[in-house]
Amino acid sequence: MLDFAIDESRCIQCGECAADCPVRIIDMSQGLPRISEQRQGLCIRCQHCLAVCPTAALSILGVNPDESAEILPPSPDGLENLIKSRRSVRRYRPEAVERAVLDRLMEAVAYAPTGKNERKVRFTLVDDPEVMARIRVLTMEGIRRAVDEDGLPDGMEFFAKFLTAWDQGRDIIFREAPHMLIASSPREATSGEADPFIALSYFELMAASLGLGTVWCGYARWALQSVVPELGRRLGIPSDHRSMYAVMFGYPAVRYARAVQREVQGLHRVRPADLEGGL
Ligand SMILES: Cc1cc2nc3c(=O)[nH]c(=O)nc-3n(C[C@H](O)[C@H](O)[C@H](O)COP(=O)(O)O)c2cc1C
Repeated sequence: MLDFAIDESRCIQCGECAADCPVRIIDMSQGLPRISEQRQGLCIRCQHCLAVCPTAALSILGVNPDESAEILPPSPDGLENLIKSRRSVRRYRPEAVERAVLDRLMEAVAYAPTGKNERKVRFTLVDDPEVMARIRVLTMEGIRRAVDEDGLPDGMEFFAKFLTAWDQGRDIIFREAPHMLIASSPREATSGEADPFIALSYFELMAASLGLGTVWCGYARWALQSVVPELGRRLGIPSDHRSMYAVMFGYPAVRYARAVQREVQGLHRVRPADLEGGL
């Protein structure tokens, strides 16, 4: 069921696969690594055994280790610069991002970690700017209905102002972005709270590296979850998905000439004295 296979001509029986397995199900007692049938169900399918094998002798889940990406760490300076220079983009060019670029981005998010490697995040992607335009209109129609019927949820009265702005030609919710990615996860996911956010953070940095702009969109989330939830359903976000967030993206119509400058806030260093005397 796991398709766990060892190329005996390559395996040097170093035991790295067994040592790195997070659920410790690989047995080296007979020389070559093996997973007993009874323990196969414990595998979380993380492929660490395949990744750590120094001789590419191990295959699992039908994956050929020779086809894995090489490990080419980016320079710390390059990565740091990407992190520092990424901005929330609120001005977009209208054209669609090329299909190959979208595919590359969606491939990258598959590598974001998830609790227990469950990978239950659902990605709702709007890859057609015309669909995005329709979503904008339907959202604003829904907000208008809620305003007219005095039906905006408590705490969301500010959406009425967005409607006024919309009527004046400004899209404060979606920022006229040509694309949107929503990540959501079901209630029962082990780390359902965190998984979509991690995936979107990976997405955002990969997008920045490709010259795309992104902006996290709390307003879109509230609109689709609370003000016009029927539209959220129509977009295919399952009703039992609690943790969800939206990121707008596209080619930026703004160019930042430099990074901003920030210092970390809220850093608390735990010192030995904090733990003196036990609890
Ligand atoms: C969870 C989250 C929700 C956000 N929601 C919105 C939003 O609804 N609209 C918006 O214009 N910006 C939104 N932002 C962008 C923040 O305002 C932005 O990250 C912050 O001002 C710092 O700017 P920077 O991202 O360029 O560093 C959101 C950011 C985060 C992390």
